Amino acid sequence: MPDATTATSSLPLTERPRRLRRSAGLRRVARETRLSVDNLIAPLFVKDGITEPEAIDSMPGQYRLPVSHLVKEARELFDLGVPAIALFPAVDDTLKTPDAANALAENGLYPRAICALKEEVPEMLIITDTALDPYSSDGHDGIVAGGEILNDATIHVMTEIAVLHASCGADIIAPSDMMDGRVGAIRHALDAAGFEQTGILSYTAKYASAYYGPFRDALDSAPRQRTDIPEDKRSYQMDPANSDEALRELRLDLEEGADMVMVKPALPYLDVIHRVRQASDVPVAAYNVSGEYAMLHAAAQNGWLELQPTAMEALTAIRRAGADAILTYFAKHAARWLQEG
Ligand code: PBG
Repeated sequence: MPDATTATSSLPLTERPRRLRRSAGLRRVARETRLSVDNLIAPLFVKDGITEPEAIDSMPGQYRLPVSHLVKEARELFDLGVPAIALFPAVDDTLKTPDAANALAENGLYPRAICALKEEVPEMLIITDTALDPYSSDGHDGIVAGGEILNDATIHVMTEIAVLHASCGADIIAPSDMMDGRVGAIRHALDAAGFEQTGILSYTAKYASAYYGPFRDALDSAPRQRTDIPEDKRSYQMDPANSDEALRELRLDLEEGADMVMVKPALPYLDVIHRVRQASDVPVAAYNVSGEYAMLHAAAQNGWLELQPTAMEALTAIRRAGADAILTYFAKHAARWLQEG
């Protein structure tokens, strides 16, 4: 038997894929997918009635920020090269009502936060969310009546929220509610109010996912467990088993005028990102959601996984699947890691 480690004769192979993996330089040249800070969008939480950042237990390293700190954080992110933030309000429980009226308060938390950001960090793109759940005492993304989430009544409120956010200077409105027809209605309302340059990033394929748990902790926005309202969001968010349906939602959103579309969550839905990318001629975003972030942190805290390489691998995989932009709580770290090379 010849000794495998000392054999000298070569196999007659015409292709040796390993040739391109031999050195860092070759791997750089052969790399198909790039992750850049330009691809990153940082979700941030803002809250009234606090003076210091408030840690979110289930999302290590993420905080509910008072407006003053929000502005500082946005500046830091922009200086690191992150081009956009997605803003979410943690609204005081006493301000939550069934009709989510506080969403339309002109001097409410959200309008004040947008104004402060636009004044202090005007170059940073601000993406605002128009769903009702942060303001709803039912914890749903829409108005609930008779045990149902009302589609058209919800859209009516959403169009008003969109115009309010645009008037404060929001660059992009992101409806995350999954009501039918909301993109067209918001586009129409924005245009009628003179905001034809304000963009729409539609949560096109948003799944009824269990991976949103930590986010709902952060905003205390989970559906309230009462017998008179649905206990979950499955009558409007999509069934995790479906992906043809994502293409249907995509077709409607594009017809209604979405400037960008989104798939959410990201990692358990890479196939959907891929299909949506192939079928659309606008930029595709993916939301690397709170549960995806929490999982890696939990494993890292136990010493079971290394945070940096697993997070960067995940973000690269989301890019490889076809996402142009990634909403991710890792944005700030990833921006630093990318700088370090
Ligand atoms: C609400 C909204 C949710 C997220 C973004 N917007 C939660 C939900 O639909 O219940 C989740 C984001 C995350 O988990 O990071 N419209």
